[in-house]
Amino acid sequence: MEAFEAILTRRSTRRFRPERPDRALIEQVIEAGRTAPSGGNNQTTHLIAITRPEVLDTLAVLVREAFAAMEVQPDTYRSMANSIRRAKTGDYIFHYHAPVLIVTANRKGYGNALADSACVLENMMIAGNALDLGSVWINQLHWLDESPAVREYLYGMGLSENETVTGGLALGYPEAGLPNREMLARTGNPVTWVE
Ligand SMILES: Cc1cc2nc3c(=O)[nH]c(=O)nc-3n(C[C@H](O)[C@H](O)[C@H](O)COP(=O)(O)O)c2cc1C
Repeated sequence: MEAFEAILTRRSTRRFRPERPDRALIEQVIEAGRTAPSGGNNQTTHLIAITRPEVLDTLAVLVREAFAAMEVQPDTYRSMANSIRRAKTGDYIFHYHAPVLIVTANRKGYGNALADSACVLENMMIAGNALDLGSVWINQLHWLDESPAVREYLYGMGLSENETVTGGLALGYPEAGLPNREMLARTGNPVTWVE
């Protein structure tokens, strides 16, 4: 797929087939992420690629428990409020049963941590689309970066104590076969030209 088409037709996938794509395919996506630009060329985004089913299951339980213990406040961010409400029902799998979850982390307190990680994640989403894989940004582990249970578990998966979780990507074959590529109308992201 041509680069511009891969960018314009990228959409989020939230229903995945259970089978894991070949490791070579996942590696291609990861390489696209690692090739992203970084502030000062620091290249400090750490990618933790999780495909072990027991780990994905345990993370789903830890995330559900962490959100279930929280309360929605008037100023709770809408998406987070949805996570809390759904976790309290007990029926909540934050990674949508995707067979691959790539967690991004970066140095604690580093000013470009989120920006660099976003570049990595976007590169991976576009590469996934080009390879007919579906993906969606997963923010729950970032929100739960301070949760002791989640952090402790991620230490066992390679997270360093001096890293903060910046985001994540669920990845896999879309349940529908190919990713949804129907373009969303752009009603925001305004452009101001100064010519
Ligand atoms: C910073 C960021 C965080 C996001 N977090 C989540 C998330 O936790 N779960 C989810 O299902 N989608 C998440 N998304 C996906 C957005 O909901 C999605 O990109 C948006 O609705 C536009 O749809 P599209 O990706 O199909 O174009 C996130 C996207 C971004 C950029």
